[in-house]
Amino acid sequence: MTTYVTYYSETGNTEKIAKGIFEGVEKGEKEIAKLSDIDSDKLKDSDLVFIGFPVHAGGLPKEVKSFMKGASSIKNVAIFYTHSSPKEMKMVNGAIKAAEKILKGNNAEIMGNFGCFGTVNVDSLLKLPMIKQSEEFWKDRPNEDDLKNAKEFGREISSKI
Ligand SMILES: Cc1cc2nc3c(=O)[nH]c(=O)nc-3n(C[C@H](O)[C@H](O)[C@H](O)COP(=O)(O)O)c2cc1C
Repeated sequence: MTTYVTYYSETGNTEKIAKGIFEGVEKGEKEIAKLSDIDSDKLKDSDLVFIGFPVHAGGLPKEVKSFMKGASSIKNVAIFYTHSSPKEMKMVNGAIKAAEKILKGNNAEIMGNFGCFGTVNVDSLLKLPMIKQSEEFWKDRPNEDDLKNAKEFGREISSKI
């Protein structure tokens, strides 16, 4: 069995979660790589692919969208994401729905999803009231607990294959 953990991350939050998930995968061969470094053709030989991204403007970063559209050979997929506004604000769920729609359109089996807050590291974003207001949630995230949970997510999903 081969598992890939692949991710897009601009300021490192999603990358930390990717590493946590990777650590949790206990079965078979495993590989971790940035989206930009993975040949989507290679994924057809995988049994499970974890794809991670930061939520951008309530949706998927364009790099992630086009990767998912091109990754039509994935059989089993799990998604993970980081975000900085509370889920209730609807700026997060849209991204998950968008990802699931593309992946289901490719006939992939969606095994689960994992999300957590990520510290805002971009100055221009800190000027947005919505982001500033939720600082109590995203400050110093992902933290140790998030990484532990990510590891457990990796372990649990990969044990189902
Ligand atoms: C251009 C941009 C748009 C963003 N839009 C959202 C958003 O709509 N909702 C949200 O919760 N967080 C949003 N964020 C915050 C990021 O999702 C969050 O900080 C994430 O953890 C960054 O992950 P990274 O460090 O892996 O790039 C945005 C960040 C950027 C840079």
